[in-house]
Amino acid sequence: MAKNKPETLEARGLTRQALLHKARKADYDEFYTKYEDVEKELNMYSKSIWKNKVVFCNCADAVGNDKLSTSPFSLYFFRNFRTLGLKKLICTYYAGKVGEFNQGAKGYIFTKTGYSDIGTKEYPKDYTGSFDHPLSLKILREEADVVCTNPPFSRAIDYWKILIESGKRFIIISNISNVVTLAFVPYFKEGKVWAGYNRVDWYLTPKRELTEAAGHWYTNIPINNRPKYKNLKLIPLSNIPTKYMKYDDSKTLIVNNGYIPSDYKKPFAVSARPVLNGLLEKGYVLVEDKVYYPCINGKNCFARVLVKKI
Ligand SMILES: C[S@@+](CC[C@H](N)C(=O)[O-])C[C@H]1O[C@@H](n2cnc3c(N)ncnc32)[C@H](O)[C@@H]1O
Repeated sequence: MAKNKPETLEARGLTRQALLHKARKADYDEFYTKYEDVEKELNMYSKSIWKNKVVFCNCADAVGNDKLSTSPFSLYFFRNFRTLGLKKLICTYYAGKVGEFNQGAKGYIFTKTGYSDIGTKEYPKDYTGSFDHPLSLKILREEADVVCTNPPFSRAIDYWKILIESGKRFIIISNISNVVTLAFVPYFKEGKVWAGYNRVDWYLTPKRELTEAAGHWYTNIPINNRPKYKNLKLIPLSNIPTKYMKYDDSKTLIVNNGYIPSDYKKPFAVSARPVLNGLLEKGYVLVEDKVYYPCINGKNCFARVLVKKI
């Protein structure tokens, strides 16, 4: 009997690099948040944002019998349910391949309706726990007030689209470079999202080992007196050290190291960092809803966005 030859990468329309990239992305999906990072960020917001609200954690936010089998988001809201004055906590568990949090192969919906309610788990037929499953979407659109989680890196584009279209408030973790990534730039330009307080550099692998990745909190909840404004160096153009400013081949100004020209009227290019530090709250706007790739002496530089003073 003739054996079926495995299809080549070429026949599948893939390159080796694309395959590696895909695998790496899927690996990043299994980077779990450290409890301290959830606590550090969520403690920054006014308690009033939670009062009488339904919190929805919708990406593999397991609720188990102990800390190891519970997502740090579920745990935070469990522990602080009364202090925050929550009305309800809904956490959905996604039955992924890795079986994180040892919660089995079935998706479920956990609901806690009050401080003294220990909560119940439902396992609806064919429910995967995916954030885009019809039942998860129904909770998002009809019940949730505030959404909090760390969504899978590989599904970030779909996740942001669904979340932002829902119009719900949110505090989520995502890649630090979203500000300079085409799919996300329009949300920043339209003021539908901005940086939360902190970056998140360390995560836990399924084996509970520390691993590094560049994440940041994002939200659409007002940030009071952003501490990172202090990293923005707003000064006249002529005072910016020359080593931190240059013009690209199209004569567009590029500034680095937190320097922002306070008296420059034309669009100029910045990296993600100043935007994450609150530049768009200081009288500057994004000029286009796309990424800007400066070219210097014919060589492409890393991605930026164009901003200008209003
Ligand atoms: C970055 S981890 C975060 C897990 C947990 N929320 C935390 O913060 O520790 C993202 C999780 O989303 C899960 N996931 C993957 N695809 C999903 C989907 N379509 N819907 C919901 N969760 C998904 C992954 O298996 C992974 O456990």
